[in-house]
Amino acid sequence: MRAARSRPLGIVALLSSLLITGVAVPPGPALAAPAPAATAATAPPTLAPTPPMGFNNWNAFGCDVNETLIKETADVIVSAGLADVGYEYVNIDDCWSLRERGPDGRLVPDPVKFPSGISGVADYVHAKGLKLGIYGDAGTATCAGYPGSLGHEEIDAQTWADWGVDYLKYDNCNNQSDGSQADFVRRYTAMRNALDATGRPIVYSICEWGQSQPWTWAADVGDLWRTTGDISDNWASLRSIIAQNAPLAAYAGPGNWNDPDMLEIGNGGMTDTEYRTHLSMWAMMAAPLLIGTDLRTASPETLAILGNRDVIAIDQDRLGVQGAVVSDEAGLMVLDKPLANGDRAIALYNSTDTLATVSVPVRDTGLRRAGAYRLQDVWTGEVSQAKSTISAGVPAHGTVVYRVRPLADPTVVPPAVSVGATVGTLVPGTAGTGTLSTTVTNRGVGALRDLRVTARAPEGWTVTATSSDSRRSLATNASLPTTWTVTVPDGTAAGRYPITVTAGYDWGPRHRAASTTSQLVSVVVTAPGDGRRHLSTIVPVSSSNDEGPVETDQSNGGGSDNDGNLITIGGQVYNRGLGTTAPSEIVYYLGGRCASLVTDVGIDDEATSPVPATFTVYADDTAVASSGPVVSGAAPVTLTADLTGADWLRLVTTGNDPTTNAHTDWAAPTLACGGAGPDDPVLPAERTLFSFESGTEDFTIANPDSGGTMARTTTFHTDGGHGLTVATPVNGNWFGRALAEPLDLTGSTRLRYDVRAEEVGTVGEFAVQVGPDFAWCQGGRWTWTNPNSSRTVTREFSELSCPAGVTLDLTQIRAVWVFLNSGGQIHIDNIRAD
Ligand code: GLA
Repeated sequence: MRAARSRPLGIVALLSSLLITGVAVPPGPALAAPAPAATAATAPPTLAPTPPMGFNNWNAFGCDVNETLIKETADVIVSAGLADVGYEYVNIDDCWSLRERGPDGRLVPDPVKFPSGISGVADYVHAKGLKLGIYGDAGTATCAGYPGSLGHEEIDAQTWADWGVDYLKYDNCNNQSDGSQADFVRRYTAMRNALDATGRPIVYSICEWGQSQPWTWAADVGDLWRTTGDISDNWASLRSIIAQNAPLAAYAGPGNWNDPDMLEIGNGGMTDTEYRTHLSMWAMMAAPLLIGTDLRTASPETLAILGNRDVIAIDQDRLGVQGAVVSDEAGLMVLDKPLANGDRAIALYNSTDTLATVSVPVRDTGLRRAGAYRLQDVWTGEVSQAKSTISAGVPAHGTVVYRVRPLADPTVVPPAVSVGATVGTLVPGTAGTGTLSTTVTNRGVGALRDLRVTARAPEGWTVTATSSDSRRSLATNASLPTTWTVTVPDGTAAGRYPITVTAGYDWGPRHRAASTTSQLVSVVVTAPGDGRRHLSTIVPVSSSNDEGPVETDQSNGGGSDNDGNLITIGGQVYNRGLGTTAPSEIVYYLGGRCASLVTDVGIDDEATSPVPATFTVYADDTAVASSGPVVSGAAPVTLTADLTGADWLRLVTTGNDPTTNAHTDWAAPTLACGGAGPDDPVLPAERTLFSFESGTEDFTIANPDSGGTMARTTTFHTDGGHGLTVATPVNGNWFGRALAEPLDLTGSTRLRYDVRAEEVGTVGEFAVQVGPDFAWCQGGRWTWTNPNSSRTVTREFSELSCPAGVTLDLTQIRAVWVFLNSGGQIHIDNIRAD
């Protein structure tokens, strides 16, 4: 075990960084726990000789867990063949118990969600040849507020063992910790000892989000440990977790796995290329493979990704070595994982937003010296040979994984050929002609003959080679570079369009024909439409940012997307803008059509810094407005930039102290284009329903017996000078009112409001009443706001569900309600439709 590090963990920040989806649970009767069953088995040396595989409900269902889901999932794991490829554990996450322990001090399964109890579900799962996992927390309460196990370790471990549980995920919310590593070791070791004392073999999954560097101390405590915060179903999250987990290879081994969190494959927030990267990199990193999607409705593509035996074989290889990072430069990473049969798995991972050629010289890997190597692509199954460099054109966000071994006779295997390409941003019309560059490289033993390169673009585009696109012969490790001009027809919509580049050639003594293809994504941009509009509603051409992605209509927050607060500068709160962390740059295409940008700028109150930051607006390459050095806590500065004639707009922030990560905000930037005047309305048009300027707007409480109070406030407002402070009951209530006349919201697609929680977080939800009978329409996923945080809650009308037979007629809105449930003070403002 390594010496403890002294970095204070900031428990409030740590807890408030969690996003939790809450679901109200009706209090039910306490059930008596079953009598303990005698268990005598002693734990084998390691319960997880290879990374655990299975399912966990959290990513797809949050708190919405129940017996039917778990049983049906177990059924599918068997029937879909996932058990055959190794998926074994069916794990229940948070929210399975009642809110109170039973009279005997034991945890009580919620009898509505689990009528057979956890033991009944365990019996069912065991009968299918699978194993059951449960969730607990090394604190006073779980993340969703159910009883925690701190101080109850022995009785809880025994309860789980008595029920037949085989796997425990042990979380870290509400941990009462002083933040020291010693405290983490103490809390997690207490449960280790309690599990041992039961005598039942239970895999122990430590879930403290990497806070106390568990890889340095948990080898003798748990079988696996989370290394990062929670994953979410988007590319920014996946990329950030890979970057954090990949360098920890040295700490992994049989029974000691780094856990970069559960799989999001199939949940819809990423492309299949990204989901293949997800499984590829988890396999290369010898990570646990816990499916996190609804298997009962999973598509064939999802099942094919999850069920890829060649990828799983890399993850489950009995040598149990996490792939080492061979190189990691400019977003391109190479991993090298030794396998038990002497092969090595080599991953070429492209985290950038464009096609890239990723390469590694064989001598930089653990492969032994040979004249040639056999590469088997684990996703396509294709086999090729390489002489001394392993290389491929890898699509944006993609990963190529080869199983590699020395090859005695390369003449019978086609050569590995990489096709790379780059293309600049394209503007429709001949004035916007762009350049495409392609490079074909022969990595195989033996020359390619009659090489021809072709580039195929969408219908109506022209792609013309301006340098040689063919070669009689291309020797080993030689390249053919070609440049092309690309013209996009006038009227083409802005967006991303594929360009396919194919190299066709003959190889080997028998001149066999073969080809290699790469797909490139080109970006077509068009100038903004006429009028004044919020810049945050315009998609930039590109953006770079020091910490995670640039955020729209919120501050930068942290490394994931959508993790900021409402932009707040010197106490002033904005619900529009761009959240960045310096150094940052955001680029827009204007096409010479825009006159001005007006924006407030400043350092967000959420992350103060001793170092000033500077905000500069560039029209093409000319700085047209600059804030000069701006310090934390200062009032917002207003910049007005003249953009007349400029093709490109660039917003740049510089100056930052890396230890504090100042969050540089562009607050409410508005762009005027096509002759728009300063008094034109800012688009997209919003309709304010309640802004609390004159009072509480006659708001009422839907269920007066459940409690709650309201008062107008100046503490929080995102327009005007006032908002509404609501004291909410713990179980929540609806705040809003019936309208004197039916409201016509035709043309709007959604409802929004701004919210700030004080010391207790809250869920947020909308309901409307509609039609002559005031039918109640509500729904969609609840939006959680952390303690001491703010956000805009958005609900599409299409997400609301109405009673049977009622359609949501937007011309007949009779009442609008918002739901809040903190048990504390919540501020809201600016309930609006757009
Ligand atoms: C934490 C964990 C998640 C999940 C939730 C449940 O956030 O990291 O994986 O278990 O708690 O509330």
